[in-house]
Amino acid sequence: MSLAPQELENSASKYAAEAIRLDSQGSRGMAIQSYQRAIEALVKLVQIYPDYKLNKVYMERANAYQNRIKALQMSHGLEDDRPAPIESKAEPVNGNGKGSAPASHKSANVETLKADFDDLVMKDKPKVSWDEVIGLDDAKRAIRESIVYPMKRPDLFPLGWPRGILLYGPPGCGKTLLAAAAAAEIDGYFINVDAASMMSKWLGEAEKNISKLFTMARKLNESEGVPVLLFIDEIDSLLGQRNSEVGGEVRVKNQFLTEMDGINGKSKESQLYVIGATNKPWSLEAGFLRRFQKRIYVTLPDGASRTNLFNQYTRPLNTEGSLKIEELAKIADGYSASDIKDICQSVQLRVVNELFESGKAMEANANPRPVSTTDFREILKVRKPSVSVDMIRAYMRWSDQFKAL
Ligand SMILES: Nc1ncnc2c1ncn2[C@@H]1O[C@H](COP(=O)(O)OP(=O)(O)OP(=O)(O)O)[C@@H](O)[C@H]1O
Ligand SMILES: [Mg+2]
Repeated sequence: MSLAPQELENSASKYAAEAIRLDSQGSRGMAIQSYQRAIEALVKLVQIYPDYKLNKVYMERANAYQNRIKALQMSHGLEDDRPAPIESKAEPVNGNGKGSAPASHKSANVETLKADFDDLVMKDKPKVSWDEVIGLDDAKRAIRESIVYPMKRPDLFPLGWPRGILLYGPPGCGKTLLAAAAAAEIDGYFINVDAASMMSKWLGEAEKNISKLFTMARKLNESEGVPVLLFIDEIDSLLGQRNSEVGGEVRVKNQFLTEMDGINGKSKESQLYVIGATNKPWSLEAGFLRRFQKRIYVTLPDGASRTNLFNQYTRPLNTEGSLKIEELAKIADGYSASDIKDICQSVQLRVVNELFESGKAMEANANPRPVSTTDFREILKVRKPSVSVDMIRAYMRWSDQFKAL
């Protein structure tokens, strides 16, 4: 009789937790053994239940353990007995190009924590200006009100200000872009984590990762006295639908709620902000939502925004003087901002392709012909919007109930 998936999950989880504990204590050999057992359980699970929806996550986890085993084996070759503990393998994260802090005890702590998240945290601060984000005026205003202004003049906010903002909406409409624009404006650290990879990184460790993530953000804020913006993309992945998933999603969620309470209840001096983004807002439960005082619908572009998007994304192109942008914007009703960007790109590809097909591309001064309104019309005909009407209805329904500007 074969094992139930539950049992295999449990034993994978147990071995992985054990491996990570041993690993952090420096017991290399035993850690490798436990990682190995965790991998075996995961592989078995995938073999026995090939259609299981979490298989991709399991395989990613198995790969992560395999890589850790390799790293442990390598470090054994270099040092005599003790491998590098998990924490010290990575370089520190540099959030704002300010260079490393002086080597005080405090900053050493921060460095270790930062190193822990090397793989999860994005290092470079994006260079996106508010002007590049087309439309979405509500969202821009909410972010300015609750992050940018309080950061600049905290004295003007005697009642405090919101620390959590949730951006939700269909894919490709600018959630990530908005967070990047906010980050570019703050003179501080921007920590960008993708919740999905955080969950799949180390089996059974996601809960600790959450707590370390917030600790890191807090320490950065306290020790360096600069604002810290934590952007958690795909925040819905912190909430597994099933209570029994490998990695203990329930504990993860509770940990997250606790950390959010910590931020919201903080003194006025604290400049720690969380922006969460999701395109599945309905999978977030009430307790979760309450911690995000601002909940902003990042919508499909309206007519005026579509015109601006076409203007923005055709600007670098060589266009026929008479491009009928207004007409294109009308046809592109229902398309997302990123669809419109892709359409402009496809049109350019089309004329470049023509040039290559003509065999003249490599001749001196050979250039594609200017793109025309007809090119756009034809591309629009063969490209459907990436967001369906049903999806939009679902977002509107959810918005009516839960949005908070
Ligand atoms: N409002 C916008 N203004 C200008 N460009 C945009 C806008 N929204 C999206 N884009 C373009 O589309 C790309 C993808 O957008 P973005 O990553 O912000 O979408 P998202 O809402 O985060 O989607 P997902 O839910 O899939 O993560 C951006 O890098 C940008 O080039
Ligand atoms: Mg995104």
